[in-house]
Amino acid sequence: MLGKVIASDQGPSVFEFSFVVNELVKKNQFVTVNSKNGLILGRVTNVFKTNKYFESIGAVQEISKNKMDLAFPTKDWEYTVAKVKCLGAFTDKSFIRVTYPPSPGEGVSNIDTKLLGNFLGIDKEGLDIGTILNYDLKSKLNLTSMFQKHLAILAMSGSGKSYGCSVILEELLNRRNGKIGIILIDNHGEYTGFKKDSKYGSKVKLIDAKDMKFSTENVSPGMFRAIMPMMSHAQVRDLGKVLHKLKQIKKSFSMDDLIEAVLESDTQDMVKEALVGWLNSINRMNIFSTSNYPNDSELIKQGELTILDLSKILDLKKKQTIVSLISRKLFNLRRKEQISPYVEIIEEAHNFCPSGDAQDNAISRGIIETLAREGRKFHASLCLISQRPVKLSTTALSQCNTQIIMRITNPSDLNHIRESAEAISSEELESISSLGVGEALVIGEAAKYPFFFKFRKRESIETHSKNIEEYADFYESKSSLASADDF
Ligand SMILES: Nc1ncnc2c1ncn2[C@@H]1O[C@H](COP(=O)(O)OP(=O)(O)O)[C@@H](O)[C@H]1O
Ligand SMILES: [Mg+2]
Repeated sequence: MLGKVIASDQGPSVFEFSFVVNELVKKNQFVTVNSKNGLILGRVTNVFKTNKYFESIGAVQEISKNKMDLAFPTKDWEYTVAKVKCLGAFTDKSFIRVTYPPSPGEGVSNIDTKLLGNFLGIDKEGLDIGTILNYDLKSKLNLTSMFQKHLAILAMSGSGKSYGCSVILEELLNRRNGKIGIILIDNHGEYTGFKKDSKYGSKVKLIDAKDMKFSTENVSPGMFRAIMPMMSHAQVRDLGKVLHKLKQIKKSFSMDDLIEAVLESDTQDMVKEALVGWLNSINRMNIFSTSNYPNDSELIKQGELTILDLSKILDLKKKQTIVSLISRKLFNLRRKEQISPYVEIIEEAHNFCPSGDAQDNAISRGIIETLAREGRKFHASLCLISQRPVKLSTTALSQCNTQIIMRITNPSDLNHIRESAEAISSEELESISSLGVGEALVIGEAAKYPFFFKFRKRESIETHSKNIEEYADFYESKSSLASADDF
């Protein structure tokens, strides 16, 4: 038994109670106590100490002045008290609201792990991503509730988002049934180690975004406008006509062919000049060609992972264009059932689907918001990862029905989460700022009740990124080689 319910000014009530602690009790721990309702389930919201000796300022001063604390057994009066919020009560058949408080003096126990598993919606066949904090219970999340709609992983830098995402990837790749395709937009090339991994490498395709090509004939006039938002409607309309004509003559064509066709068309000279200007700058991005690389059939495979490594591209606009094109393509293929259900994981999602000032210019925002709103009808889900939730489009974030939240201390990000996740309580929000690396809160569809867990150790190779010390040594060894050559 953990302790006994005490009578205080605030309770026990149907909302909360406190108990005096015999054994170690931790914040956020689940406890049970009997009442007329059945077995009440509660969560520890705070743990604090009291000592009657030290309650009055005068007495504290007297005691220490006269060195009475040495003579009196003041320590014997120290108690640890845990405050508990009532979540509901188990009856024979169901889980109900608490309508009778527990009695003072009633024994408080730790929750039985089986009961806890049922309460939280743990699925034995689910993704084994870690362990529930303070319990010997795996936090296995149901695949459908996690990916039927969308998922967000939010936390400040260095809290373990990418590590946690790698654990989720391992679980998806290990599945025997319910296998989905995975595409990962890897902004920093952090996941490329998966390709070299002895267990997972065979199920991984790595695409270097700088080699990627999209066939020009598949780009709609609307897409050209998304890349060059300054194009006027008249220019887009005329470009549409040229594209239409060109498609009738040629099966495939390059940007140069398209520019040529614009020049030869009967479009007004002013429009022509502007269009050629826009098309030239799009051409300089060097992502459109006469054919696709890789082929559409190579882009995503059921039960496998495709990593799109964007690390060699510096220009954000180009990155967004590639993400936009690939996301549109996959969503279209999925709508036609030409590829398996899939999840698109976007690291640094605030760069691709931003809110605020950046939103109007973000080429990829439109398709990501479309996926957020309509993807689930076609079993195309999103997993948005971000260290700046406040900068992430609210349209997209509000469609993420499961959120995994790790350490966040920035008040504006915390506020944003409070607003976007209705299920989150102020105590949980408070705990987010003190989470350790790898620890997380899961709320929403995948957890019947929000709970804290720690991601398990990953099995796959972690892509090692050099720290500043290693880079400095690397630079030094390179420059000493260079100076030796000078001799
Ligand atoms: N669950 C975990 N167990 C052990 N180490 C972890 C865990 N999560 C993260 N780390 C370590 O913490 C560091 C930061 O993790 P990372 O996933 O890169 O953070 P983020 O993506 O949030 O910036 C890495 O060195 C990683 O190895
Ligand atoms: Mg990361």
